[in-house]
Amino acid sequence: MRKLSEMVLVTGGAGYIGSHVCIALLDAGLDVVVLDNLSNSNKVSLERVQSICRRALAFRHADIRHEEAIHDVLRSCGVTAVIHLAGLKAVGDSNVRPLTYYENNLLGTMRLVSAMKRANVKTLVFSSSATVYGIPKYLPLDEKHPLCPTNPYGRTKLAIEEMLKDLCRSDDGWRIANLRYFNPVGAHESGLVGEDPLGPPNNLLPFVAQVAIGRRETLQIWGNDYDTPDGTGVRDFIHVVDLASGHLSALRHLSRPGVLTVNLGTGNGSSVLNVVRTFEAASGRSVPYEFRERRAGDVAVCYADPTFAIEALGWKSTRSLEQMCADHWRWQLQNPDGYHGSELAKVRERSKHFRRHA
Ligand code: UD1
Repeated sequence: MRKLSEMVLVTGGAGYIGSHVCIALLDAGLDVVVLDNLSNSNKVSLERVQSICRRALAFRHADIRHEEAIHDVLRSCGVTAVIHLAGLKAVGDSNVRPLTYYENNLLGTMRLVSAMKRANVKTLVFSSSATVYGIPKYLPLDEKHPLCPTNPYGRTKLAIEEMLKDLCRSDDGWRIANLRYFNPVGAHESGLVGEDPLGPPNNLLPFVAQVAIGRRETLQIWGNDYDTPDGTGVRDFIHVVDLASGHLSALRHLSRPGVLTVNLGTGNGSSVLNVVRTFEAASGRSVPYEFRERRAGDVAVCYADPTFAIEALGWKSTRSLEQMCADHWRWQLQNPDGYHGSELAKVRERSKHFRRHA
C-alpha cells in the first residue's frame, strides 16, 4: 500500500461527488487543488468543504479541455496524483448533444492525461460508471461482465477507460484506477454539502427530496410492471461518503503499474418504492407519487458485485439506505434551494457547532 503525502488535483472537485472526495482527502491529511469550470457546480461547496475539514484547499477556475491551464496547475502546485471527476453526466442530454459529450468527456480527458504526461504525473483515479455494462446479462454485475453502454454518455466513459488502458500498455509508469460507480446518493452528515442539480432532477433521490420539501408536487415513478418484487426498478444506491472513501482507498492501492478497474457499489438492490418509503420514514414527510410508463433506456434491475473492491482496495460501503435518506434529507432541509441563496456567514456559524463524530 502507498503511504500518502500527496498534492492531489481533483477535477470537477466543486461538484456533488467531487466535494465529498475533497473532504475525504483533506480529512486524510492530503493537500488538494480543485480544478472546475463551475458549469454544473457552485464554488460555495468548496467554502463548506473547508469549514467542515478546517483546512484550506486551492481552487483554479479552468476547463479540462485547456491543456495549458491543467499543465500550469500540475507544475505550479506540485501535483503528485489526479482524481478526475469533471465531465457531463446526463444520459438524456447525451442523446441530444453527443458531440458535446465526446468533447467534454473524451477530449477533455485526453487533454488532461497529455498535460499529466508532460508534467510526469502518472497516477490517476478516473470516475467511470456502471453504465458501461449496459443491459445486465447476469447479476450481480462483476467487473468481468461484458461492456455495452446504451447511450453516448456511457460510450464516452467506456472510450475513456479503453484509452487509459492503452496508455498504461504504452508506458509502465502509469498507475490508473477506473472506478465504476453505481447510484451515488445521500450527503455529508453535516448537511452542509450535497447534491444541487440544475433544473428538474433526472435522478431519483434529488427528485424525491424536492417533493418531500414541497418544491415539486409529485414524483413520477417510471414503470411499475418490471419483473421485480414490487414492479418498480431496482438499483444499487451507495452513500456518496462511502463512494468518496473509495477514491482514497484507490489512491492508496495504486502501488503497481497498470490499470485497476473496480465497481463501487454496495451489492444490495433497492426498489424505487422502497426508496420512497425509506425516505418518508427518514424525513417524516409524505412523498406523493404516480406511476407512469417505463423511462426509455431504463433496465429493471442493476446492482454490483462488490467483492473485487474489497480484494483490490480493502474498501467496502458501510452506510445503509436509511442513512442515505436521512443524510440526503438533512441536506435538503438545511438547503431548500441548494447552494443558491446561501449565506456563508450562516454556514460558518452552523459548521462551528458541528461536531464531526457527534
Ligand atoms: C442514471 C443514469 C446512469 C447514471 C446514474 C447516476 C439513466 C438511464 N441512467 O442511472 O447512466 O450513471 O443515473 O447518475 O438515466 N426514477 C423514477 N422517477 C424519477 C427518477 C428516477 O421512477 O423521477 C427511477 C428510474 O426509472 C430508475 C430508478 O429510479 O428505476 C433510478 O433512476 P436514476 O436515479 O435516474 O438512476 P439510473 O437510471 O439507475
